[in-house]
Amino acid sequence: MVAARITVNGKEAPISPAAPHTTVLDFLRERGLTGTKEGCAEGECGACSVLVARPGTDKPTDWVAVNACLVPVAALDGQEIVTSEGLATTDEAGGPAVLHPVQEEMAVRGGSQCGYCTPGFVCSMAAEYYRPGRCAHAAPADGETDPEHGPNGFDLHALSGNLCRCTGYRPIRDAAFAVGEPAEDDPLAQRREQSPPQPVATAYTQGDSAFLRPGTLAEALRLLRERPDAVVVAGSTDWGVEVNIRSRRARCVVAVDRLPELRELRTESGHIEIGAALTLTEIERRLDGSVPLLAQLFPQFASRLIRNSATLGGNLGTGSPIGDSPPVLLALDATLVLADADGEREIPLSDYFTGYRQSVRRPGELIRAVRVPLPLSPVVAFHKIAKRRFDDISSVAVAFALDIEDGIVRKARIGLGGVAATPIRALAAEAALEGKPWTAENVEAAAQVLRAQGTPMDDHRASAGYRSAMLGQSLRKLYAQTTEAVSS
Ligand code: FES
Ligand code: FES
Repeated sequence: MVAARITVNGKEAPISPAAPHTTVLDFLRERGLTGTKEGCAEGECGACSVLVARPGTDKPTDWVAVNACLVPVAALDGQEIVTSEGLATTDEAGGPAVLHPVQEEMAVRGGSQCGYCTPGFVCSMAAEYYRPGRCAHAAPADGETDPEHGPNGFDLHALSGNLCRCTGYRPIRDAAFAVGEPAEDDPLAQRREQSPPQPVATAYTQGDSAFLRPGTLAEALRLLRERPDAVVVAGSTDWGVEVNIRSRRARCVVAVDRLPELRELRTESGHIEIGAALTLTEIERRLDGSVPLLAQLFPQFASRLIRNSATLGGNLGTGSPIGDSPPVLLALDATLVLADADGEREIPLSDYFTGYRQSVRRPGELIRAVRVPLPLSPVVAFHKIAKRRFDDISSVAVAFALDIEDGIVRKARIGLGGVAATPIRALAAEAALEGKPWTAENVEAAAQVLRAQGTPMDDHRASAGYRSAMLGQSLRKLYAQTTEAVSS
C-alpha cells in the first residue's frame, strides 16, 4: 500500500509521522500553516475551517468547508485541501500575494479585528463563493432578498458554524454579500471542472494504533468482524470531540464514509433509500426539498461546517437521545438497513434504540442505509427548541408527520428527542389524534397527552417542566400553522 499522503495548497506531503488520531488542524499547524486556528476543538467555532475537494453535485468537484479540528489527517489520505494560506495567489514571478476576493472583501469592509476567526470565516466564505449555481440565485437589482441570502445568492448558512467574538457580524455579512462571481481564470474555480481525488484504501498504523479505510463494504464488514473493538467513523464529528475533549484514543479506527455502497441515494418502489455515509449537505442538495420534513431539519442541524461531514449513519450510530435526525426519521416511519458479514436485515427505527446510547445494532454490524417509506404524509413540522437558532444542541426536538383527510387525522406520527434516554415515538399522543377531527379542542386534548410523554430531566439546558411544556406547545404551534395556512 502506498504511504499516506495529502495535498495541501497544491503541494503533496506525507502524513507520517503524525499519529493516527492527529487532526488535520494539528497536522497543518505542525507544518507552519498556522492560519488555521483552534478555538474550541469541538466543531462549534469554525476557526479551523479548511476546504476539501469533494465530489460535486453540479460540477465534478465541490470545494467543501469542514472543521479541521475534528477530522483525523489520516482520513484525508490521497485527498486535496486548501487552507486560508492557499487562497491568496502570487504572480508567476513570485511577486506579492494577491488577496482572494473573499479575503479582499473581508479586509475592505472591516470584517476582521483581532483576526483570530478570520481564516476560518474566509474558508467557509470561499466554499460558498465557489458553490455552483450560487449566482443563478442572485436577486435582480431591485429585487427583494430574504435576510439569509445576499443579492449575490450568498447563503448565510454557509457561515453558521463560524463564530466571531469581536468584529460583530454585520461587516462579515457585508463582505459575504459583496463577493461576485469567480473569474474565469480563478484556479480554484477551474479545479471544479476536474474530478476530485478518488478515495483510497488506507492502512495507517503507528505502534499499536491504526486508522484503516477499507475499499469496499465487504472488506469493511470482514474487518469489523475481526476487530469488534474498532471505532467506526464517517465524518468524525462525534469521535473528533471525544478525541480532543475527552482524550479518548482507539487502537483501531475504521472509516466508512467513502464506501460507495453507503453513498447511494435512490427512489425505489415504496421508499427512498438514503446511504448512511452521505453527508447531510449531500442529502439536502440531492433531495432538493422533496422530503419536506428533512428539508426543515437540515438548516437546524448543527452548522453547514458540520453538515458537510456529518452523516445519518453517524447520528443514528451514536444513539444520542438528543440527536436531531432521530425524531424526524421516527416521524417519517423510517427503517434502517443493517449489514454485517453474513448479510442484511431491515428494522424499523422505532425498534432500533434500546437504552441510553444503546441499540439493537450488533458488534460488527453497520448501518448501510436509511429507508423513508412513500408516500409522505403531507402535514409535517420539525420544532427544535434550543438556546440558539442555529449551531446548537436541542433541549427538546419534536417532529410531526400527519395525514389529514377531510378534516380527520387519518395517521399521526410524532418523534421526540431530549425527553427520555432514547429518541421515542409519542404513541399515546398519536393515538389521541388518530381518527379525530383536526380541531382546536382535539388538538388541546392531544397536547395534554403529549406533554406527559417521556421522562424528561432537569439539566443545564432546560428543566423537566420546560421540556414537557414545549411538547404540548409544539402541537399547538403546528395546529396554528395549519389553520393559518388554510385561512390565508
Ligand atoms: Fe472550533 Fe474547530 S476549533 S470548530
Ligand atoms: Fe476577533 Fe472575529 S475578528 S474573533
